[in-house]
Amino acid sequence: MAGGLMPRLNKNAVLALLIASSSVFLLFQLYYYRQHVSQNGTHLFGRTVHLSGKDSQWKVVKKFMGLVHKYNLPVFLVDTASLGLLTQDSALLRESSISHPQCTVLCTHRDFLTFALLGNLWKYDVGFVSAAEEKGFELLEVRGKDPRLVSMDDLSGKEIPLHFLYRLHGYFVHVVVLYERSGNYLWHGHLRLKPNMDRKFAPFRRLDYGRNAGSYDRPELVLTTLDGLDVRIPRNITRFLTEYSQAQFLECRYKEARSFFQLYPDDVSPEAMDFRMKAKALLHLAARTLTELQVPFWLSSGTCLGWFRQCSIIPYSKDVDLGIWIKDYTPDIIQAFQKAGLPLKHKFGKVDDSLELSFQGLDVKLDIFFFYEDTDIVWNGGTQAKSGKKFKYVFPKFSLCWTELLELKVRVPCEAVDYLTANYGPTWNTPIKTWDWKSSPPNVQENGLWPVKDWDDVIQVY
Ligand SMILES: *[C@@H]1O[C@H](CO)[C@@H](O)[C@H](O)[C@H]1NC(C)=O
Repeated sequence: MAGGLMPRLNKNAVLALLIASSSVFLLFQLYYYRQHVSQNGTHLFGRTVHLSGKDSQWKVVKKFMGLVHKYNLPVFLVDTASLGLLTQDSALLRESSISHPQCTVLCTHRDFLTFALLGNLWKYDVGFVSAAEEKGFELLEVRGKDPRLVSMDDLSGKEIPLHFLYRLHGYFVHVVVLYERSGNYLWHGHLRLKPNMDRKFAPFRRLDYGRNAGSYDRPELVLTTLDGLDVRIPRNITRFLTEYSQAQFLECRYKEARSFFQLYPDDVSPEAMDFRMKAKALLHLAARTLTELQVPFWLSSGTCLGWFRQCSIIPYSKDVDLGIWIKDYTPDIIQAFQKAGLPLKHKFGKVDDSLELSFQGLDVKLDIFFFYEDTDIVWNGGTQAKSGKKFKYVFPKFSLCWTELLELKVRVPCEAVDYLTANYGPTWNTPIKTWDWKSSPPNVQENGLWPVKDWDDVIQVY
């Protein structure tokens, strides 16, 4: 009997041990799986479904959207992660429109969600703030100077709200206020914390908007349903995201410009006023023409200097200068300007070398310089018609930013000081009326001669 009992007991013990250890293993697997799921979401039936960890994020989004609807806040979705999901997968948009209780678009891998608020459609509502606080949101409002009021005559610039951050359960809703500017575009300010503000309130460095000021064309919006909620989004998301990637905006340096004019009073003679008016009209016409062709351009040479130094056009410059990357050249440019009433005055160089176009406006010339990229530098070419001499103007590499000049939203080199210093030397801040384009610029290099047999092609004067 005893001999029979022992193995039986042993057997039970072994079985219990086996069950215990496999349960531990299963529990471990379940735990690991849940951890994994809450970090990454899991793909069930091909769709991202966020479990437990995302529940509070979903609640925050729903609470915020509830407030938006109740108070008619004119916001639209500008979150690059959410919009990115919608461009990747149009099925997602369709499916997300079906009212279901999952958060697939508005809850991303990030702990914040970003909306833009159209400033001119919105009035400060104390009710909204207290309703948000009642729902548990903590609020941080970042204000800054109103650039629409800043000018050379008035540097006061009243403060306006630029960014709102709503925090709840460790999630954030970032609301970027967009203001309409006189060049008919939307602008948002730099998110700059005041010294007394809580630097740890939100993940400021990771936010999509606010590292710099930015500018956008007014996007066409559509009302759609995302995750069962009514949300307005840009109609053409791809276009919006492209704009986002190159939205950085530079304000003109009004304070420095004012100091400049205190040293060198502005020319307000009728001739100077007349020139400025014509140059402004030409600049607007050039911008319309090139934008229609989708050719990006920037203010170059004297026009760039006028913007940077005096927030205006230099009256004795006698022309408007634009830069264009050679990769964006198309023969349509010449046709389009001629159609716009600007005859071609000269064409120097060729597409693979030193191309330069000049159009005759009303008493004002439009010069377009094409820029070539080398390993460490960029350059544009010059040609002296009578001698066939070639010149090369060398600049440090630069990227493009937006700014406003004469009520036009226009591009300039972001590294404007480096660009102007290369072209005009460190004394660019001192006006010089005698300037020889072949010898004065510090960045000019002689670049040989065009072969005489090519002159008909590379030196065209009309
Ligand atoms: C969206 O904008 C891009 C330009 O960024 C354009 O090429 C495209 O055709 C637009 N799509 C629609 C559907 O309008």
